[in-house]
Amino acid sequence: MSIKGKVAIVTGCGSGIGQATALRLAKDGVRLVLNDIDSQALAGTVALFQGAEASQVPGDVAQESTAKSLVEEACRRFGRVDILVNNAGVHHIGDIDETSLEDWNRVISANLTSMFLCSKHAIPQMLRQGSGTIVNLASISSFVGQEMNGKSTFLYNVTKAGALQLTRSLASRYAPDGIRINCVCPGATRTNAIHIEDPVELDNFWKAVGEAHPLGRVADPREIASVIAFLVSDEASFMTGSAVVADGGYLVR
Ligand SMILES: NC(=O)c1ccc[n+]([C@@H]2O[C@H](COP(=O)([O-])OP(=O)(O)OC[C@H]3O[C@@H](n4cnc5c(N)ncnc54)[C@H](O)[C@@H]3O)[C@@H](O)[C@H]2O)c1
Repeated sequence: MSIKGKVAIVTGCGSGIGQATALRLAKDGVRLVLNDIDSQALAGTVALFQGAEASQVPGDVAQESTAKSLVEEACRRFGRVDILVNNAGVHHIGDIDETSLEDWNRVISANLTSMFLCSKHAIPQMLRQGSGTIVNLASISSFVGQEMNGKSTFLYNVTKAGALQLTRSLASRYAPDGIRINCVCPGATRTNAIHIEDPVELDNFWKAVGEAHPLGRVADPREIASVIAFLVSDEASFMTGSAVVADGGYLVR
């Protein structure tokens, strides 16, 4: 696909879907500016590259200074920003009466403020270039209410519905400027987003979650990375404002 030589910013690539996306884009010849709030995890991802051109900008993308630095580093080192993948995020399980204002602010910041800030700083550069593309990590949770072990995931779902609307609103605004903005909506994907210490319990958790998907399993992060790699390539040149569902059939039930 036609993405060789392009310049991409990927947030939250110390693990999971972000790491798989960074590796996939590096393999496709994309030059990268990579971020994670966890600098050790970020360095671990960069160590997996073989000969890829990549800069690291550790930090919290819910802070405007980090979002600004990502764009500045891409322009300083590579002279442009072709691709932004707004991937950084956290999961949250908890009913509304046990969710504090601090929880609300933390999850909204990590999942949604981060997308606002990175897009805010990348779009002016894309406008100067007359081209660019953004993929936001939305979710099946953008569309439905969900519970895990009897507890609501409403706060997470609110942020993912926000990611979908941010995608549509910005896609509509910037289509005339040659900027395409889409979101990918994964079903459950086996990553570090869920913290369970015991490995047997963890396997059982993902197996049970997989059973809610008609394909009978959860996704591997590489299966989501391949959708993102398509969306940011010129092969998807007529796609903007789309919510691309990659969910093993979850939403058809
Ligand atoms: N795993 C799933 O089932 C699933 C499904 C749908 C959507 N998603 C979305 O995919 C994205 C990636 O999640 P994942 O499952 O790979 O999780 P993950 O926990 O494996 O990876 C997320 C990464 O983001 C980083 N991060 C978190 N907050 C950050 C911040 N404020 N600034 C910079 N980095 C930050 C974390 O340190 C971590 O390395 C998230 O937006 C998530 O909501 C995941």
